Amino acid sequence: MRIVSGIQPSGELHIGNYLGALRQFTALQDEHECFFFLADLHALTELPAPETLRDRVVATAIDYLAVGLDPQKATLFLQSDVPAHAELMWLLATLTPVGDLERMTQYKEKARDAKKRRLVNAGLLTYPILMAADILLYRAEAVPVGEDQLQHLELARRIAHRFNDRFPPPLFPEPNALMQKKGARIMSLADPRKKMSKSHGPETYIGIFDSPDSIRKKIQKAVTDSGTTVSYDPRRKPALANLLTLYALFAEEELRESAQRFSHSGYAIFKQALTELLIQKLSPFRERRQTLAQSPPHIRAVLERGAERALAVSQETLREARTRMGIA
Ligand code: TYM
Repeated sequence: MRIVSGIQPSGELHIGNYLGALRQFTALQDEHECFFFLADLHALTELPAPETLRDRVVATAIDYLAVGLDPQKATLFLQSDVPAHAELMWLLATLTPVGDLERMTQYKEKARDAKKRRLVNAGLLTYPILMAADILLYRAEAVPVGEDQLQHLELARRIAHRFNDRFPPPLFPEPNALMQKKGARIMSLADPRKKMSKSHGPETYIGIFDSPDSIRKKIQKAVTDSGTTVSYDPRRKPALANLLTLYALFAEEELRESAQRFSHSGYAIFKQALTELLIQKLSPFRERRQTLAQSPPHIRAVLERGAERALAVSQETLREARTRMGIA
């Protein structure tokens, strides 16, 4: 299978990003032809300072390698190094109803936030078309993502369908989401009704590269529900259900087994075990990250090599799309 996915270089990555996306990436690279990129064009919609964005691109590329993405197995590249993404986006924009864009939940949320800062830029609205271009450019069949990206992926499928219909024979596969059954929506440590996200503050998420000390403090402070015994009950005990999900995913066992293991323990003992497990699983990433951070030139070389491969594949699709539409 041909697989594509991306992550915005917009700051520290958390264990939601890891369980929803990165962990799948590392598993998929062994079996499939994978293109994983840093979505810096998408990150521009948040209007970062230029220096900040430049630094984050390097930092996120290091993060990719630190969690186990391997440039020998997967093509790792920077979205803006491949101009065909932006060009295909324009072609696809002409096939996308504005109403579809205005209905996107993420757009509505971001536009509401942005309004407070007085600029709802057009990039926030057209964001999903760029995402469709990212995927269709490689004629990908599958896209590993967390649940929050499903609506965008559905739109990408519709855009592919419309293009194929209008300019036959079919050029683009309609891409499927690859989603984890349990890790697709990890919730905030402070409020189990909200998804884990950087934007709610550092105490609400565990960073993939957090120090043991920070992990300890954050799990200790994580909200739990009333009651004293550990059980998996997402409706009545959503906070605990989220923590148990984290335990099961990192322990690589069924939720049922994790719940059973702690059924006679109080919250404190369970939290202690979760803390130790997270430290044990995340420490190797942190150590690898520290080593990689000492060689940024190596990182640049990885991205340059990735871009060469991505350019070659994307040029071919773009040429075909242009011809079909009558501009070549
Ligand atoms: P981004 O950068 O917000 O998030 C990266 C990936 O992490 C997943 N994720 C989560 N999964 C589980 N629980 C959570 N709490 C959680 N938070 C984030 C996201 O679903 C995502 O898979 N638009 C995309 C980037 C993108 C892209 C693409 C993805 C651009 N072009 C093409 C796939 C294909 C985004 O902003 O992800």
